[in-house]
Amino acid sequence: MDYLLLSLEQSALGDAMRGWRWLYPVVNTVHIVGIALLFGSMVSLDLRFLGVWKSVDSSNLVRVLAPVAVFGFVLAVMAGGLLFTTDARKYAAMPLFQFKMFLLVCGIVNAACFARTRATRRAALISLAVWTGALICGRFIGYL
Ligand code: HEM
Repeated sequence: MDYLLLSLEQSALGDAMRGWRWLYPVVNTVHIVGIALLFGSMVSLDLRFLGVWKSVDSSNLVRVLAPVAVFGFVLAVMAGGLLFTTDARKYAAMPLFQFKMFLLVCGIVNAACFARTRATRRAALISLAVWTGALICGRFIGYL
């Protein structure tokens, strides 16, 4: 595992992410755009399923916001993966980073269950907690 992480760090991508002056800030910005699209869509959907904006048809809201959330998630994962290459061994060893990855998996599983069955209040509460947790972990990683 350590060998894989080291190879990732020493790959051309890792070198470019560390060496090119503007690459890291640009990729970090893409990460944040992805997070904004994902988080904004998920919070709006979760609040609707918790009973806010009852006059708004929930299936229309899902039709508009679900693709935005998926697009945001894909952006965040791709840019997050690039950020990870800058210091892969350090991030992989951090409990907060591991917890963030665990929350992301919980978020995907919850959203998949959400999509397959009827959305419940409990699933909406889990979704709110998981995505907020992932956002907080991501922000705090830089300070540890
Ligand atoms: C596989 C997916 C992801 C990976 C590998 C990843 C990886 C990373 C890495 C390496 C950083 C830089 C940490 C640092 O400052 O040293 C970061 C920042 C961050 N991530 Fe992620 N991330 C992923 C998905 C997400 C998602 C889905 C969210 C939100 C729900 C998120 C929220 C954040 C936040 C808020 C920051 C701080 C950005 C900043 O303040 O500049 N990440 N991420």
